Amino acid sequence: MRILRRKDVAALQAEAAADHTLTRALGPLSLTTLGIGAIIGTGIFVLTGSVAAQNAGPAVVLSFVIAGAAAVFAALCYAEFASLIPLAGSAYTYGYATLGEIFAWIIGWDLILEYALGSVTVAIGWSGYMVSFLHDVGLDVPCTLSAARGALVTCADGTTAHALFNLPALLIVAVVTTLLVIGIQESARANNVIVLVKLAVLLLFVLGAARAVATHFWHPFIPPATGRPGQFGWGGVTTGAGIVFFSYIGFDAVSTAAQEARHPQRDMPIGIIASLVICTLLYIVVSAIATGVVSYTRLNVPDPIAVAADAAGLGWMSSLIKLGTIAGLSSTILVMLLGQSRVFYAMARDGLLPAAVNRVHPRFRTPYVTSIVTGVAVAFFAALLPIADAANLVSIGTLLAFVIVSVGVLVLRVRQPELPRAFRTPAVWLTAPAGALIALYLMWRLPVETKWRLAIWFVLGMIVYGTYGFRHARLGRDS
Ligand code: ALA
Repeated sequence: MRILRRKDVAALQAEAAADHTLTRALGPLSLTTLGIGAIIGTGIFVLTGSVAAQNAGPAVVLSFVIAGAAAVFAALCYAEFASLIPLAGSAYTYGYATLGEIFAWIIGWDLILEYALGSVTVAIGWSGYMVSFLHDVGLDVPCTLSAARGALVTCADGTTAHALFNLPALLIVAVVTTLLVIGIQESARANNVIVLVKLAVLLLFVLGAARAVATHFWHPFIPPATGRPGQFGWGGVTTGAGIVFFSYIGFDAVSTAAQEARHPQRDMPIGIIASLVICTLLYIVVSAIATGVVSYTRLNVPDPIAVAADAAGLGWMSSLIKLGTIAGLSSTILVMLLGQSRVFYAMARDGLLPAAVNRVHPRFRTPYVTSIVTGVAVAFFAALLPIADAANLVSIGTLLAFVIVSVGVLVLRVRQPELPRAFRTPAVWLTAPAGALIALYLMWRLPVETKWRLAIWFVLGMIVYGTYGFRHARLGRDS
């Protein structure tokens, strides 16, 4: 029974009101841009093309709609929790208040897949774009320092070699980590600028390429199934939804910064929902236009939006799109690393991780130890790992967190209906189960290896909890 001990919501609220260690500097606009900063990244700039070419054809638009629905339902549940329990830690803290410690631990452990592995994935994608952009302007990164350890790379002189490690990926994580240690306000300011750049690039693409749409590219809208699982037909559209789901990940990172919001009760729901709705609409339009200006069969490239721009007669945009992507991916890394360090902060505060990681910097007032530890680990893996499959593992981990949060909202409505909720999930008995079911369905549509990796990750997590968290939990010691 001890593993099901729960934190009291009223105590959590008092804790939130009394805790002034982190700076409350973020308003509704910063929170919304924080969300957009995390959301728009590798997904729309890279996965749109591969899913159109391999899974869904022009119906990649439908994949975006389905995945967007899963995200919107979950976002409504996150918004209720974020307004009720405005503490750092997001889904982890909600789990502790509703389902009990073991579930909180499971979510916290699971969020490492979303945030830390997510940052690793995006940093590797960033490196790919950076190497390609530098090459365009006549600068070549030494080939052995440009990819995962052991990967076969083609060097500038045409020879091939095995890479030692991915230097650009390591460097971007180091830069972002430094920014996070210096301060939340500085980080938010840098994020605001970057978000403007990436929104501008996508809007330019939409406005410029819309004229060139030729509707015959949308026929057939759903190419007939080839017989291989997930390749076209309706099955391709739903597998595609599981894959492009990655592009929506990030709105929940807004909720990890609850302790840094000026008016969390009001502004958390605004930040979460506004950022997601803006991105959902943008994704649907961008994917419709990308598949409307060129045959979907030509989009299986690392830079499909640049290829579509080229086909629409906007060749001059190609470098701009690469620059926008490079900027865009840096803010995704920034918000994900921020999210991870705040989740660790919350777990260490509760005693499930060693308290030593929780020191707040005397001058910068940021949890610098967790930021640095997270940054070093993420930089290490980003320098060594290949990108393949990591994105799917990030998606399945996030979907699981969504399932638990959706169930958690219902549990708390039944258990403590009287709590004052600044934001209430609309039609919760429809929204929450629908969100959980779509998320479960998308998990099921992901490749079987991904599910195995998730299972192994949890076995590891249980070992860590059994040997450390269970004994050191503050809740256990206090009682
Ligand atoms: N949503 C983020 C991206 O697409 C994770 O890169």
